Amino acid sequence: MKRIRLAPSILAADFTRLGAQINEVERAGAEYLHIDVMDGHFVSNISVGPPVISAVRHVTDLTIDAHLMIENPLRFINDYIRAGADIISIHVEACDPGPVIKAIKAGGKKAGLTIKPGTPPETVYPFIEELELVLVMSVEPGAGGQRMIPGCLNKAEILANYIEKYGLETELEMDGGIYLTNVRKAIESGANIIVAGSAIFGTPEPGAAVSAFMDIFKSYGIN
Ligand code: DX5
Ligand code: ZN
Repeated sequence: MKRIRLAPSILAADFTRLGAQINEVERAGAEYLHIDVMDGHFVSNISVGPPVISAVRHVTDLTIDAHLMIENPLRFINDYIRAGADIISIHVEACDPGPVIKAIKAGGKKAGLTIKPGTPPETVYPFIEELELVLVMSVEPGAGGQRMIPGCLNKAEILANYIEKYGLETELEMDGGIYLTNVRKAIESGANIIVAGSAIFGTPEPGAAVSAFMDIFKSYGIN
């Protein structure tokens, strides 16, 4: 089994102290940093873009995991590459993924493909060999602080079985509504990258929240 890693989502962070908050989760053992990019078109909210990613790049060595909830990602992909994201995930519903994945790889970055809760897992199969990561949304994209949609666990299981069956290195990430109380469900469905926003930055002590997640991860004896 693959290492289980935590990807705190800065969407719930205190943006006036972003650097300090990132350093706190890094010290506590998080390995990825999830940055949610929203364009007001693909989803109805607007969040952050390349300038914030490049600022974050200067304060952390964490793996920057950019989740692009944007229409026509091909048009902007070079900006995200230049900003210093390590993994760039696009939505299968937002574009023809092939050319975007190609552009991400040409820029020397890892490529991820994301599916919304209503999108079947099979939609990623034609691309999976090119991908370092598949991201299963466990809430409707566009906002933090929602409840996990339980049907998404079954989709993660289908994808995890596919990845295992074909011996792929692809990581499986789950994003949305994950807390200490239900993270085991995400892990047991086969996800090995766990995104959590509210459960970390929505608490008074993000570092302590990260440690509590790490204790659960360790209990699986994989890390
Ligand atoms: C939702 C985002 C998530 C969000 C997760 O559109 O993709 O990454 O920040 O936040 P929580 O953990 O609060 O559901
Ligand atoms: Zn996200």
